Amino acid sequence: MKIFSCFAAALTLLPLATAHYRFNSLILNGKTTPEWQYVRPSNNTNYPIEDVTSINIRCNAGAASGIGVQTAAVSAGDLIGTALDIPIFHKGTLNIYMSKVENATTADGSSGWFKIHQVPPVFDSDNSISWPSLGATRFYFTIPPSIPAGQYLLRIEHIALHLALTPKAAQFFLSCAQLAVSGGGSATPDLVQFPGAYKAEDAGILIS
Ligand SMILES: *[C@@H]1O[C@H](CO)[C@@H](O)[C@H](O)[C@H]1NC(C)=O
Ligand SMILES: *[C@@H]1O[C@H](CO)[C@@H](O)[C@H](O)[C@H]1NC(C)=O
Repeated sequence: MKIFSCFAAALTLLPLATAHYRFNSLILNGKTTPEWQYVRPSNNTNYPIEDVTSINIRCNAGAASGIGVQTAAVSAGDLIGTALDIPIFHKGTLNIYMSKVENATTADGSSGWFKIHQVPPVFDSDNSISWPSLGATRFYFTIPPSIPAGQYLLRIEHIALHLALTPKAAQFFLSCAQLAVSGGGSATPDLVQFPGAYKAEDAGILIS
């Protein structure tokens, strides 16, 4: 009986032991907001997306709408941030995208996206590579001052490259948050689509 209960306990702990980092909240006015208040939860625990042609590459699995999630009011030009539940523990690249939408609650991420921030690896003069996003629990970035006012999805992505020696082995940890941007200008950034922006063989997704 004792052995059985130990075994059951080990099984219960397994998801924790294998838990991956998740972008689960925004940082607004310097304060970390409650998890999943403005960020859409996924329904895949925290298993990474590995297929760049899947629609789950937009906002993660089960996050094609944000019913029950709030939309954060921010101003163009604001410095905001995103926080994780646990520190990033894979080497990789952080990217932040935005997409202008009619309604941030109902938008499915099929609209075009533009990148506003990145934390790529750094190639040092001695040919070694360092990974500034490794170990981080929060990232800060500026809402571009020139984008039009309106509702937006914010797509936060960390591309983990520790296994990315074969196609479909890079792991995408991502979340979408919902924003209502005030102020701003009339900029029209170049847009990419998800899926579409990435190919499994792209440099930086497949690595040598
Ligand atoms: C997650 O949501 C998607 C729809 O976005 C659905 O197809 C899938 O079955 C859901 N998965 C689970 C584990 O509930
Ligand atoms: C967005 O859609 C939701 C759900 O239909 C609705 O409650 C909300 O009022 C809409 N917001 C805007 C800004 O249109």
